[in-house]
Amino acid sequence: MSVRPSTNGKQEKLLKVEDLRVFYGAARALDGISFHVAEGEVVTIIGSNGAGKSTTLKTVSGVPELLKSVSGHITFAGERIEKRSSHRIARMGIAHVPEGRRVFAGSTVEDNLLLGAYRRRRLRSAVNADLERVYERFPVLKERRGQPAGYLSGGEQQMLAIGRGLMASPRFLLLDEPSLGLAPLLVSQVFDIIAGLAADGTTILLVEQLAHQALRVADRAYVLEAGVISGGGDASAMAADPHIREAYLGA
Ligand SMILES: Nc1ncnc2c1ncn2[C@@H]1O[C@H](COP(=O)(O)OP(=O)(O)OP(=O)(O)O)[C@@H](O)[C@H]1O
Ligand SMILES: [Mg+2]
Repeated sequence: MSVRPSTNGKQEKLLKVEDLRVFYGAARALDGISFHVAEGEVVTIIGSNGAGKSTTLKTVSGVPELLKSVSGHITFAGERIEKRSSHRIARMGIAHVPEGRRVFAGSTVEDNLLLGAYRRRRLRSAVNADLERVYERFPVLKERRGQPAGYLSGGEQQMLAIGRGLMASPRFLLLDEPSLGLAPLLVSQVFDIIAGLAADGTTILLVEQLAHQALRVADRAYVLEAGVISGGGDASAMAADPHIREAYLGA
């Protein structure tokens, strides 16, 4: 849990999503959702398989396949972005760590990290400083920098995927299901890293099925059910809520 003031409307809203609807063909994946993330906050959207979590992140980061089927407003740092391309959105400082990690198994760890550095491609010194920063946070990546990423364990690959996102020095980090496919011990390690990023003031939107881990690191949470936000509040209050405990925490 990060020690930052909870939002009571005073902090600036870095991301504001209003009445967002997204279709895949005729199928509705998001049915008018609204939420916000304030600067410095960690917000999680919890929900089960197919609820629309990945779709939400993809829409915010502007993945091309969804651009045409989006309605509603997405405002980032005061600018409307729902019709912008993923490149422009990335340049505004939004980094998306997608579900399933997607590291390039045959490329080295360092080359995978450098793929995340496109925002500063022309400034090699800035890129090197970013690399050093990422290596400081993830010493295992530094040790394995010259090895193919495919040799890393699942947890290490997740660290690589997050490290690649951090290479762009993002203002806002979107994390899609960082626990996916990881053994419980590795899940805890990855969430400790997320807690560390949060403590350093990184603004994060995290979507996750493992609600207890997500609520541990988040300031606030929303519940997404079948494309609709059905609840939300302070993460600690949500973790204590009987309905949430029964539906999402296996209590
Ligand atoms: N490319 C696609 N084409 C058609 N339908 C899709 C596509 N991607 C997702 N969907 C559907 O949209 C809905 C939301 O999917 P989404 O991937 O956003 O869910 P999710 O909450 O991330 O689920 P999970 O926890 O399994 O990752 C689901 O019903 C899914 O089947
Ligand atoms: Mg998903």
